Amino acid sequence: MIRKKLVAGALILAMTVALGGCGGTTKKEDSKDTPVATEANGAAGGLKDAFADDFTVGVAINTYQLTDSDKLEIIQKDFNSITMENEMKPENILDQAGSEGQSDGMPRIKTDNLESILKLAKDNGFKLRGHTLVWHSQTPDWFFRKDYEASNDYVDKDTMSKRMESYIKQVLTFCQEKYPGVVYAWDVVNEAMGDGGGFRTEGSGWYDIFGEEFIEKAFTYARKYADKDVKLFYNDYNSYEASKRNMIFATVSKLKEKNLIDGIGMQSHWDMEYPSVDNIETAIEKFSEIKGIEIQLTEIDMHNTDDSDEGLKAQAARYKEIFTMLKNMDKKGANITNVTFWGLQDDVTWLSSFKGEESFPLLFDADGKAKPVYNSLMEVAKAK
Ligand code: G3I
Repeated sequence: MIRKKLVAGALILAMTVALGGCGGTTKKEDSKDTPVATEANGAAGGLKDAFADDFTVGVAINTYQLTDSDKLEIIQKDFNSITMENEMKPENILDQAGSEGQSDGMPRIKTDNLESILKLAKDNGFKLRGHTLVWHSQTPDWFFRKDYEASNDYVDKDTMSKRMESYIKQVLTFCQEKYPGVVYAWDVVNEAMGDGGGFRTEGSGWYDIFGEEFIEKAFTYARKYADKDVKLFYNDYNSYEASKRNMIFATVSKLKEKNLIDGIGMQSHWDMEYPSVDNIETAIEKFSEIKGIEIQLTEIDMHNTDDSDEGLKAQAARYKEIFTMLKNMDKKGANITNVTFWGLQDDVTWLSSFKGEESFPLLFDADGKAKPVYNSLMEVAKAK
C-alpha cells in the first residue's frame, strides 16, 4: 500500500500533465477512508483482494441475498462494498402514514429495514454505498404534495425545501448515529441530467417544484449533515455520452468549487457493443480534470443475451478490455476509488425485465458459478 502511494504520487503528476495541467487528483491520499478487506468480510483471494491496490469492489444486492449463506459466502469473498439495489431508495424509507397530520409538517421515515441493513453490513464487514437520496424515480409522488396526499397539488418551494432537508437529515443522522462509518458514500442526486442534453425535466417532482436548483440544494443539505468522512456523489447513466458528460462536468465543477461534492458515479450499464472503451476513457479523463474529484463506477453490468461458451467468452473479452483501461487510468492518476457490479448473479438482474429478454450481464451465473468474465477480471487485476 505504501509503495502504491509513492508510485501514485508520481503518477498523479504525470496524469496532471497528461490532462493539460487542469487539475489532476488526490489519488489514494484518502485511501485510508475507503473500505478494505478485513478478516470479518471473508476469505482472501477474491476480486476485492486482487484489486486492492486499484479500487474497492462492490456489488448491488437485496437483503435476502445477505441472509442466504451460499450467496453471502460469494459476496464476502469477492466484494468489500455493497449497495442496496432498492431498499435505501426514498420509496422504501419514507413513511406516508407517519408523515400525515404531524404538527411540524415534516416527513417521517421508517427505520426498521434500514437498521437491519446497516447491522447486516456491519456484522459481515461490508461498507455501504448509500443509494440514493434525491431521485425523480422511486420517490413517491405524495412526498411532493400538500398534506402528503397524492391527489393534492404540489407544495411550494419553501415547504419542499424543508421536507428535503428533513429527509436528508433524518436518513444520514440515523445511519451515522446507529452505525457510524458503515455508509461511506451517498448518491446524493441520481439521474438529474436529460438524455438529449440539459437537465431532466420530465417525470420529476423535484424539477417541477424547483427547476435545476434542487441539485445544489440536495448537496448543501447532504454536506450539512454528513459526517466528515462520508463522500457525496452525483450519479448518472450514459455519463460517457457527450451531451450528458458535459452537463455532468459543468454541474459537478460548480458544486466542487463550493466544496459540496466529492465524486461522480458513472453507472455503467453497458451492452456488448456500446459504449466503446474510448467513450468511457474520454469521460473519465474529462471528469478527472475536476480537481480532487473521485470517480466510482457504481452500477456495472453488460447486457448479453448469448450464454453459449462463445457468447460468454466474448463478454469476458469486452469486460477485460474495459477493466484494463480502468486500471491504466487509475494508475495514471484518475481517482477511481470503487467499481460496483449491479447485481450478483445473472438470475437477479433488472436487465431481463427492462430489455424484455433474458440477460446474462454479471460475474456469476444463476447457480453462483463464476463465469469466464470472472477469470478475465482476475487476469487484469494481477497484470502489472
Ligand atoms: O417491490 C415491488 C413488489 O411489491 C411488486 O410485487 C413487484 C411487481 O412488479 O414490483 C416490485 O418493485 C420492483 C422493484 O424493482 C423491486 O424489485 C419494481 O417493479 C421495479 O421497477 C424495480 O426496479 C428497479 C429499478 O431500479 C426501478 O427504477 C430495479 O430493481 C433496480 O435494479 C433499478 O436500479 C436502477 C438504479 O437505482 C439507478 N440506475 C438505474 C438502475 C437500473 O434501472
